[in-house]
Amino acid sequence: MNGGATAAARAHSNIALVKYWGKRDATLNTPAVGSISVTLDALYTDTRVTFRSDLTDDELWLDGCRSDATRVRRVLDLVRGYAASAGHPAGGQHAVVSSTNNFPTGAGLASSASGFAALVVAATGAAGLALPARELSILARHGSGSAARSIFGGFAEMHAGTASDGSDSYAEELQGRSAWPLAVAVAITERGEKSINSTIGMVESAATSPFYPAWLDSADGDLAEMRAAIAARDFTRLGELTEYNCLKLHALMLSTRPALIYWNAATVAAMHAVRELRSGGVPAYFTIDAGPQVKVLCLPGDAEVVRQALAAVPGVHEVRMSTLGPGAYRLE
Ligand code: PMV
Repeated sequence: MNGGATAAARAHSNIALVKYWGKRDATLNTPAVGSISVTLDALYTDTRVTFRSDLTDDELWLDGCRSDATRVRRVLDLVRGYAASAGHPAGGQHAVVSSTNNFPTGAGLASSASGFAALVVAATGAAGLALPARELSILARHGSGSAARSIFGGFAEMHAGTASDGSDSYAEELQGRSAWPLAVAVAITERGEKSINSTIGMVESAATSPFYPAWLDSADGDLAEMRAAIAARDFTRLGELTEYNCLKLHALMLSTRPALIYWNAATVAAMHAVRELRSGGVPAYFTIDAGPQVKVLCLPGDAEVVRQALAAVPGVHEVRMSTLGPGAYRLE
């Protein structure tokens, strides 16, 4: 460190109950549809950003390894723009970004969501900026669509927006985490990096599916129903809709050219285990993003039964239990 402007932040991962897939504008990274997520307490990224006058480029260190800084640079450029307008020296400086996840990176556990949310809070902090949460959410969206939601805790909704400059494409909190405590079990079925990241998957192939128009047309209905389920604290409705929306997304992914098959054998076995739990009277519902991990929503009193059932599934390496988490915040 050479004493440059520095700040650190923690952001938690989130999982979408109603998911987005497809981009409205790839350059602005605005999603084609809105989404609703829960933020997870147990999975987070810690990031430190230091702006320094001696650097000739931005540097990214991810879990201790030098990594490609292209996507990070894009967000830092926007932060530098704000800093320059505010007359802060960070406006003309590159940065060292060093980030650690407390979970496997790039395996469908939303490391880009927590990663870019932490980056935005740390970078704006280091640049001496105090931006409103909505602005932070928009900045995070430029890194990864799902990151816009990780600025917030509890239940968050991302708006697809219609503005051509992306100014109405941001997330906001629907309810805080204490309003409705839920538990989420995360069954890790694979520790390696997934083969196709979600951005490449959705930009290059979503529209090749004949189901894509139906996916777009049915999104607003799912969002309205999910908002109603959350407002009414109706867990059955929330769970059934979560599972339905997840399977609808994977039907879309399976029908693109080339097909996106994110599941492995243990992913499918875990889905069946959740359905068996329900047949036995335990309300639990799965959801799966662009990766092989299975996240299972349940009520806090059923968390241990759900954990045991998932741990017994052949191919499940580990089950992480989580409650709902807070929004992104500064460390120190
Ligand atoms: O924003 P990205 O590139 O991390 O894509 C997220 C895509 C899904 O996780 C599958 C859906 C979602 O809304 O989080």
